[in-house]
Amino acid sequence: MDNQDNSIQMQLEKTNRILLKKLERCQNERRQLETDIATKEFLLKKVICELEESQTDLQYRGQELENTLDSLHKMQAQMIQSEKMSALGQMVAGIAHEINNPVSFIYGNISHISQYTHDLLRLVQLYHRYFPNPPVEIQSERKTIDLEFLEKDAIMVLHSMNIGTERIRDIVLSLRNFSRLDESEFKAVDIHEGIDNTLMILQHRLKATDKNPAIQVIRDYGNLSHVECCAGQINQVFMNILVNALDALEEFNTKRTYQEIRDNPSRIMISTSVVDSQWIKIAIADNGSGIPESIQKKIFNPFFTTKPVGKGTGMGMAISYQIITEKHGGKLEFFSTPGKGTEFVLQIPIQQQV
Ligand SMILES: Nc1ncnc2c1ncn2[C@@H]1O[C@H](COP(=O)(O)OP(=O)(O)OP(=O)(O)O)[C@@H](O)[C@H]1O
Ligand SMILES: [Mg+2]
Repeated sequence: MDNQDNSIQMQLEKTNRILLKKLERCQNERRQLETDIATKEFLLKKVICELEESQTDLQYRGQELENTLDSLHKMQAQMIQSEKMSALGQMVAGIAHEINNPVSFIYGNISHISQYTHDLLRLVQLYHRYFPNPPVEIQSERKTIDLEFLEKDAIMVLHSMNIGTERIRDIVLSLRNFSRLDESEFKAVDIHEGIDNTLMILQHRLKATDKNPAIQVIRDYGNLSHVECCAGQINQVFMNILVNALDALEEFNTKRTYQEIRDNPSRIMISTSVVDSQWIKIAIADNGSGIPESIQKKIFNPFFTTKPVGKGTGMGMAISYQIITEKHGGKLEFFSTPGKGTEFVLQIPIQQQV
């Protein structure tokens, strides 16, 4: 029995040793596994971190690309606008140049023809005084041409020809001034001349049509001295604001009857004034459709337009804002009441800060 007990105990001890060894091996393996897992977890975290970083980087780059695309769009539209204005300027300058010569011939000769007509009429009167009873043929010719009427009318015709050619000369001069679009340097200029020249170019849109009576332009010019600015660019701003006003008036009139338009005629009011020793102010108002409150914040945004495709690029106001605020250090703002009209107010320094 003792022997048997001993043998069982030895057997048990052996099994115990084996089990302890196995346990130790298992513990070693578990520790190894734990270290492996920790390393893998660390690696995984690192990879996730790197992925997150590259995602942020990608987002940043995407944003950068979007910004670049945006400024490219802006630049393109600005180039189109300035190309448009410079093409208009070149065309206007070309026409002005071509008209200038023939008009000068006429204008230069009117004083001579006027003098000759006066002389001839005086001679005819002298003949009449000394030969009151000319032969029948002369008497009949005198009746045919209605000499009394001719004498009075010839002077009036010459007078209106003179006024007409003077007007054409003024127009040519205005066209020439307007076409100073390429001038990009600052010069002291007459702001009123710029506004008048721009209105002259837009004359065709102010005239009465079979649908609409003429648009009234009311000018209330203050006593401005010359203002140091880029004439071409400032003219471009006047052009943009006035064309928008005309568009708004036209749009408003499509919703009104002829009678309603006659009772409350379309009007553009332009006033200029001196604010103080350093600033001048120009206000251009229309009594057109006005700007709905919901879009007022977007007016100066590039590409914002409410006009049909192909009519507006939505760059007019964005460029005007840039010209006034950035280029001239001025201010451009507007006030609008839907259904009543809109007023754009621009302020520019009389002299540029060096
Ligand atoms: N006087 C105004 N009355 C009513 N709406 C106006 C007036 N001026 C500007 N707007 C509004 O502001 C928008 C933007 O004007 P902006 O001059 O920038 O672009 P546009 O006239 O649409 O196109 P374009 O680039 O050809 O000038 C216009 O589409 C119009 O809705
Ligand atoms: Mg416009």
